[in-house]
Amino acid sequence: MVFTMKPFDFNKTNPQKKILLNLKHYTGIFLIVLLSIILLSVPQALSNQPVVLNLLLTAPDAQPWKQGIIKDFEAKNPGIRINLIEGPNATNLVEDLYTSAFILGESPYDLVNMDVIWTPKFAAAGWLLDLSNGLTAEELAKFSPTDIEAGRYEGKLYRIPIRSDLGVLYYRKDLLDQGGFEPPESFTELFKISQSLKNQGKINWGYLWQGRQYEGLAAMFVEVLQGFGGFWVNPENLEVGLDKPETLKAISFLKDTIEQEISPPGTTTYMEEDTRRIFQSGQAAFLRSWPYVWPLANGEDSPIKDKIGIKLMASSPGNMGGTCLGGWGLGIAKSSKHPQEAWKAIQYFTSEEAQRQFILKGGFVPSRRSLFTDPEIVSKYPHYSQLLKIADKAVLRPPIPQYAQVSDILQRYLSAALTNRMTPETAMEAAANETRRLLRTGD
Ligand code: GLC
Repeated sequence: MVFTMKPFDFNKTNPQKKILLNLKHYTGIFLIVLLSIILLSVPQALSNQPVVLNLLLTAPDAQPWKQGIIKDFEAKNPGIRINLIEGPNATNLVEDLYTSAFILGESPYDLVNMDVIWTPKFAAAGWLLDLSNGLTAEELAKFSPTDIEAGRYEGKLYRIPIRSDLGVLYYRKDLLDQGGFEPPESFTELFKISQSLKNQGKINWGYLWQGRQYEGLAAMFVEVLQGFGGFWVNPENLEVGLDKPETLKAISFLKDTIEQEISPPGTTTYMEEDTRRIFQSGQAAFLRSWPYVWPLANGEDSPIKDKIGIKLMASSPGNMGGTCLGGWGLGIAKSSKHPQEAWKAIQYFTSEEAQRQFILKGGFVPSRRSLFTDPEIVSKYPHYSQLLKIADKAVLRPPIPQYAQVSDILQRYLSAALTNRMTPETAMEAAANETRRLLRTGD
């Protein structure tokens, strides 16, 4: 075990209990949840069964968890079992499930697997235990500072990062080499290369991106926005940049990719896995996605095995390309009956040993800096030095408690603009005003 196993007094931290009590108005459902928890725990108490920790994950994330780290943890801790619940694919839908469970007052989840954007909301609502005393300063310093910062709210730490994430641009090295092209630095080059390879019949599509109305759309958009020199919400002063000319340029670029058939007409319905499947089948030159694609696209049966490269997203002249900081970390539900066991699990899952294994299986971005240069990881994934460079350009989605609502506004209006239900100007004016109203009034 890498960490000192220090149990801590979780009872001290309960400042937000009032919020929970106010929210307990879904009495019927609440009673059902409570009853199931009691029914689950009675046999456990009577027969000395292991403690079961419930953990909800997005479905694509569940596989790498199942392949190893859970089994290893359970082998080392025979008194604890992890009950992994596979949720929907979209992070915002999993967030909704956690949120409604917490609103009911007694969530069935012990461990909370949180996207990088959830902490301020969950912590402000009082749904999480304060983990600030869990790790020494020396331990914390081993993680990437941005991943740790994403787990803090008002100075307290609520989430320990298990892995980071970065949006990257994948390109087909083989096709670019054959055509004599360098990987694109600008959006214009990305367009030109796509068009040329398409005209030569080498590919069906140039560029794949996630255009469905969900959180992935917001994550993809902050990168393009950054590439045009724009911004969404400045977390320091809550200024909103959605109705600025840079935002309209970013939307115009995305719309052009579809209108000029660089991107498939179905783009506005795609999530990560839809785009990965098309790219992996060899039909496209470029893909914007996360590093989890790498081991799948390089799998034994993949038609594009050993044919891809990654780089930072393209940009417009004079602007720096951006990568969206993603990632996942673990917190403990304040309503958990097993906080000490949950803390043990967090210590193991975020340890160097478990992360190394998790990364070797899933190709994820480490949250521990040392793993970027770990010999075993680098020999399997030579692109990690490139990833480390990209990590320095990370753009945060606004780390504010109202993030889920702010993102929902952007997703709705951006999707309306991309699918021609509204003009980009009208859509972004409405999005900017709605966001300003929300941030002014807080609801
Ligand atoms: C990835 C990222 C996460 C992001 C999500 C969007 O899972 O790690 O931060 O919100 O994709 O689809």
